[in-house]
Amino acid sequence: MARSDSGESVLERIVRILECFTPEAPALAVTEIARRADLPPATASRLVAELVGHGLLVRDDRRLRVGTRLWELAARASSFLSLRETAMPVLEDLHRTIAQHAQLGVLDGDEVLFVERLSADHAVINLTRIAARLPLHASSSGLVLLAFASTTLQERVLARPLAGFTRNTITDAGVLRARLAEVRDRGVALCPGYIHLDATGVAVPVRDPGGHVVAAVSVVVPNDGEAARTVPALTEAARRIRARLGTS
Ligand code: PHB
Repeated sequence: MARSDSGESVLERIVRILECFTPEAPALAVTEIARRADLPPATASRLVAELVGHGLLVRDDRRLRVGTRLWELAARASSFLSLRETAMPVLEDLHRTIAQHAQLGVLDGDEVLFVERLSADHAVINLTRIAARLPLHASSSGLVLLAFASTTLQERVLARPLAGFTRNTITDAGVLRARLAEVRDRGVALCPGYIHLDATGVAVPVRDPGGHVVAAVSVVVPNDGEAARTVPALTEAARRIRARLGTS
């Protein structure tokens, strides 16, 4: 693979360029891309032109955006998207029942990646976005996915500093270890005020027909002491998704 003078591959640089685009920064000038990706402007400009040539970035006035071609390539063989498609009718029913946020998250690396989120007008504040991530120890989906993950991953997370979002986030490894055992035992994670003090996340595991946990289905509701009422609807949603996975 072609390498620059710094020993970095072209692919590494391209990934850094693509990572510059976020929900907060969906359109960027080349100078901004160069700054964010820590690349010389001439290099950024050349690589951006190549990406535009392949449709992976598109020009919008004087700025660049992620091209639909990139979405197309990523989406057409994604196992996460086929899981999302299978789960969607169930998630929609859950969303209608709860009238707050309903979401589907999967384990990706050491984080939870949200593949779908349905929201409602006037719903409680929610930091989750589709195609965005939260740490495993801090969110209800994350706790569920971590509780049923390999012990290697669990130990890696437990050995690291646990960042606090609010005063309620679990930041102590001993407390986290005990919570993971409880989540495995009860099959649900309830996280009042862990990410934001006004919201409670509630998540349950989604299993495939073989019994492996493949996702977490969750809701984000007000932090008013009533969140546990959502558990039967969540459990039923997880059961239905599992059944649909068996026939898809
Ligand atoms: C959660 O899953 O615990 C969660 C996620 C996002 C929020 C609040 C709670 O904004």
